[in-house]
Amino acid sequence: MKVLVVGSGAREHAIIWRLSKDINVDEIICLGQNAGVSEIAKTIQVDIEDIAQIREIIIENNPDLVVIGPEGPLSNGITDVLSDENIKVFGPTKSAAQIESSKIFSKKLMLDNNIPTAYAEFFNNAEKAISYGKNKGFNNLVIKADGLAAGKGVFLPSSNEEMEEIIKMLLVEKKLGASGEMILLEDRIYGPEVSVFSFTDGTNFSSPIAICDYKRVHDNDLGPNTGGMGCYTPPEFWDESLSNQIINKIISPTLNSMNKNQTPFQGILYAGIMITESGPQVIEFNCRFGDPECELIMPMFQGNLSEVFLDIANQKFDSKKVSWKNKKGVCVVLCSGGYPNSYKKGLEISGIDKIKYNLLFHAGTKKTENKIITDGGRVLVLSNLDENIMKSRSNIYKEIDKIKFEGSFYRKDIGLRAENNE
Ligand code: AMP
Ligand code: GLY
Repeated sequence: MKVLVVGSGAREHAIIWRLSKDINVDEIICLGQNAGVSEIAKTIQVDIEDIAQIREIIIENNPDLVVIGPEGPLSNGITDVLSDENIKVFGPTKSAAQIESSKIFSKKLMLDNNIPTAYAEFFNNAEKAISYGKNKGFNNLVIKADGLAAGKGVFLPSSNEEMEEIIKMLLVEKKLGASGEMILLEDRIYGPEVSVFSFTDGTNFSSPIAICDYKRVHDNDLGPNTGGMGCYTPPEFWDESLSNQIINKIISPTLNSMNKNQTPFQGILYAGIMITESGPQVIEFNCRFGDPECELIMPMFQGNLSEVFLDIANQKFDSKKVSWKNKKGVCVVLCSGGYPNSYKKGLEISGIDKIKYNLLFHAGTKKTENKIITDGGRVLVLSNLDENIMKSRSNIYKEIDKIKFEGSFYRKDIGLRAENNE
């Protein structure tokens, strides 16, 4: 089988690494490039926003299956465009991808169908939003832009003045453009967070895998939000009862509601959930694998991945074909100094060949004639599975310093709270 993967981060490297282990996969092409992917797949550079160009290249290469990594092309309708050409795609249609690309769409879906989530109201008028916000009080609210904002569309104001500034920044100054033309003022909820992933063809779905992601840049959850600095699985609070609650109250009703709504969801459903005192509540849905969560999902996955992707594309998924290893895992992201703000590119990386006891996935790296250089803020990801979190952590932190480039840094507390619970 010839498989084509769209995207160029560590998430796509992990998917391609896992696909390369399937005996029925004999060719992998990646639309996107990094130094790790180019070791195991043919790579073609594309503009990820240019759906027409992507369509043309895919038709030319005639793959048996296409797997879409990032949310951008899914929200822009790449699945619909390729399906029109009878090409099999793993990933939701444009209308189903709204579960991520429009927070108002997903909030309405949840509120209308009694799927547990924080209550929210929607605004396009700053005055009305400010008045509603002041009435509720800044500390009871979260402000969210409706559209995609690369992780920069959620605000937790720390005063009424700041709340007013954020609302004006979005609705009057339109700093996030079309993504912030409508906003949600959502009730603030509290509790530990977990990302829950399930493969689904819209009706059948796999047993979920639960992963805790670290979004802030520095140890102890300090500093600005990032795309994700590391993660671990399973969470220390995860058990069968919580998993069943999430299946029965969130995953199953969400898929049913998407069907009822004429927007059936096929792909990997990613629910961002907060475990509150009154039970699990959804804070967001995504329509794709998380990054760096995928760098643990792929090593934990048991089954034939290309077959699962293809069965889902054909809407005949047998959920028994997916199971998870009975292991515990940690992954840590190695970043370039300055990330998530400005950082240098083109820094020479050494020591990659010294990594022996961990999986190493490339994010922002580039191969030049005789060296590997940095090409992004998140540069490399180390993943490890072992019998407990303490061992996985120790395997990673023993090796990560072998990789060197100017200004590199990583969080040292990934998985620590789970280790402290063992
Ligand atoms: P999101 O981009 O929707 O995942 O939101 C980013 C972060 O904002 C989440 O990881 C939460 O920590 C926080 N957040 C989002 N919604 C809420 C909420 N309703 N109450 C409290 N915190 C929230
Ligand atoms: N790690 C968070 C995300 O992929 O959205």
